[in-house]
Amino acid sequence: MKRFGVLGTGRITRRLVADLQSTEGVEVTAIASRTAERARWYADQYGIAAAVEGYQAMLGRDDVDAVYLSLPPSLHAEWSIAAANAGKHVLCEKPLAATPLEAKAIDQACREAEVRWLDATGWLHHPRTTAAANWLQEGRLGQVGHVSAAVSFYQPFQSDDHRLDPSLGGGCLLDLGWYVAGLARFAVGELPLQVAADVLIREGVSQRLTAMMWFDSNITATLSCGYDTATRKWFEIAGTAASLVCDDFTRPWAERPTRCWIHDAAGKVEQHSFEGSQERAMIELLASDQPLEQWQRQALETQQILAALQKSASAGGQKMAV
Ligand SMILES: NC(=O)c1ccc[n+]([C@@H]2O[C@H](COP(=O)([O-])OP(=O)(O)OC[C@H]3O[C@@H](n4cnc5c(N)ncnc54)[C@H](OP(=O)(O)O)[C@@H]3O)[C@@H](O)[C@H]2O)c1
Repeated sequence: MKRFGVLGTGRITRRLVADLQSTEGVEVTAIASRTAERARWYADQYGIAAAVEGYQAMLGRDDVDAVYLSLPPSLHAEWSIAAANAGKHVLCEKPLAATPLEAKAIDQACREAEVRWLDATGWLHHPRTTAAANWLQEGRLGQVGHVSAAVSFYQPFQSDDHRLDPSLGGGCLLDLGWYVAGLARFAVGELPLQVAADVLIREGVSQRLTAMMWFDSNITATLSCGYDTATRKWFEIAGTAASLVCDDFTRPWAERPTRCWIHDAAGKVEQHSFEGSQERAMIELLASDQPLEQWQRQALETQQILAALQKSASAGGQKMAV
């Protein structure tokens, strides 16, 4: 797989198209928009050979092996499944889908069509995350007891933003909850047993989520995300021997070394720095023949956690089994 077609021309598309184009062995051969004019404009702007009107037309093309989908969340399942049925590999923006049922249907369709899929959750593929996974596995932090994560962007809306439209899967629960719930699932390596969530709704969509999770072995997590505080993208994974702290896990701050810290019980702090592009690593993984199950399970279980958080919030914050 090396020739990508892009579905959608949104904000994140620009960045991912550049990442696709700068990944060795990968090219972007076509871009599709709902309108021919917009597809043409993007194709010209980014040096893409073909501008395609309508997403369906993309799926019939012989010069496309895989599609990158950067559509609003409510359209992820429909177009990922259509792409799989057309024999295309799938790189789908986060959140993978709007519900666990949809997420499972994507997985099923890709399995049946024997195509590969990944959600475009870049941070999971950064060398820093690999180091964190190794530290956790080696017991560098001792026994993990608590995880906390916070992701926010203050009012990140453009006109007609899908984030403010419930029918398009808007709201911070799916949009940013994907990161904080995913971080907790990554750190503990399994689903929580129970969750409780409080959600602030405005204009019909979640604007702030505050949640707690209970895992096996008395591990707990606290999560915060929303559109009503300045940019935060941090986590802390606290163990009996040390804590791992990171202040930019979803995407490293621009023009600074990618970093994280291990704080031990005596106050000693180790700073670790990393290089590499998380998006290119993700694209290379999808384009390779390496197994993807670990990442797919992470995505499917994150989707399950979000559904449980939603259920708890709808029930006034009651504890819910996952
Ligand atoms: N991985 C990351 O770091 C990251 C960052 C930001 C966003 N995202 C994710 O990427 C996806 C897209 O986000 P975005 O901020 O790029 O969105 P956006 O700027 O609103 O773009 C979404 C695109 O989807 C297409 N679309 C199709 N039907 C639509 C509809 N009914 N309403 C609006 N747009 C429609 C449009 O393209 P055409 O009109 O050309 O068809 C539009 O440009 C979301 O799932 C979001 O969570 C990921």
